[in-house]
Amino acid sequence: MDARVDQKAVLVARSQLSPRCFALDLVCPRPLPAQPGQFVMVGVSATSDPLLRRPFSVAGVMPTENGAQFQLLVKEVGKVTAMLRHLPLGSEVGVLGPLGRGFSLDSCGPHPVLVAGGIGLPPVLFAARQLQKQGVSFDLFYGAASEPELLLRSEIQKVVSGDAVFCTDDGSFGESVFVTDLLRKRWKSRYSHLLACGPNPMLHAVARLAREKGVAAELSLEEPMACGVGVCLGCVVKLADGTYAPSCQKGPVFRASELAEGW
Ligand SMILES: Cc1cc2nc3c(=O)[nH]c(=O)nc-3n(C[C@H](O)[C@H](O)[C@H](O)COP(=O)(O)OP(=O)(O)OC[C@H]3O[C@@H](n4cnc5c(N)ncnc54)[C@H](O)[C@@H]3O)c2cc1C
Ligand code: FES
Repeated sequence: MDARVDQKAVLVARSQLSPRCFALDLVCPRPLPAQPGQFVMVGVSATSDPLLRRPFSVAGVMPTENGAQFQLLVKEVGKVTAMLRHLPLGSEVGVLGPLGRGFSLDSCGPHPVLVAGGIGLPPVLFAARQLQKQGVSFDLFYGAASEPELLLRSEIQKVVSGDAVFCTDDGSFGESVFVTDLLRKRWKSRYSHLLACGPNPMLHAVARLAREKGVAAELSLEEPMACGVGVCLGCVVKLADGTYAPSCQKGPVFRASELAEGW
């Protein structure tokens, strides 16, 4: 059954996490049964400017009496993300979701490893929160450009049952190394599955590492999206069988083995 609903959510809290990143807590009147890796299309304006809603991964969700409270982690990069940063508490935003295919947390074996890069954290954090609830033991690797961009470190440490490993490109926190190189260095033979979200070069490196180690990987892609519901075909990715699939419907989480080389 399609669980997606188009509804208004009220902004109840915002916290600045770094100079450009912030967390939003929103409450919606109807359920939002999102799975880790699924996303919502957010509209901030009642007018036609900006016309298009923007996709954001759900970072966590809790049912309320009739609806839900959920969290988004946002990096300010342009018009809508700037509007979200300045939106007064109590304002309403349009939320369509949950959309897309999330991570398959029920089949990730006894010791998955989670990898996040930069603002790829939200779906990985949601997966970590869910795995903790399921009592699954896992490690999490999180890399960012520099220390201020490593978001919610103490929250992550509380949620991760195994090792939480942080690194930065410039060495301002943890080792100065790309997160995928650090994962390769600290790889454990018990890893049963890889879940990842981050910039495309990082996801390509995760896919290569998973292939090399013979472990299945699921990657949450962040292809730019206009409609979020499979209509505009603006988000297509190339699959291993030579066909193309809209990332908003068939993804945003894909098994690495489903994707064409270099997608
Ligand atoms: C499935 C999915 C989940 C996402 N989850 C999150 C999230 O949890 N938190 C978050 O901060 N962002 C997330 N994004 C990215 C987010 O949608 C964009 O940052 C947002 O649409 C930018 O809107 P804007 O109006 O502020 O910027 P615009 O004014 O539209 O664009 C500003 C700049 O950002 C670039 N841009 C727009 N979209 C993307 C993208 N997807 N990837 C790379 N560059 C882009 C544009 O080319 C432009 O250079 C996600 C994207 C997808 C597809
Ligand atoms: S965003 Fe329109 S088809 Fe995916």
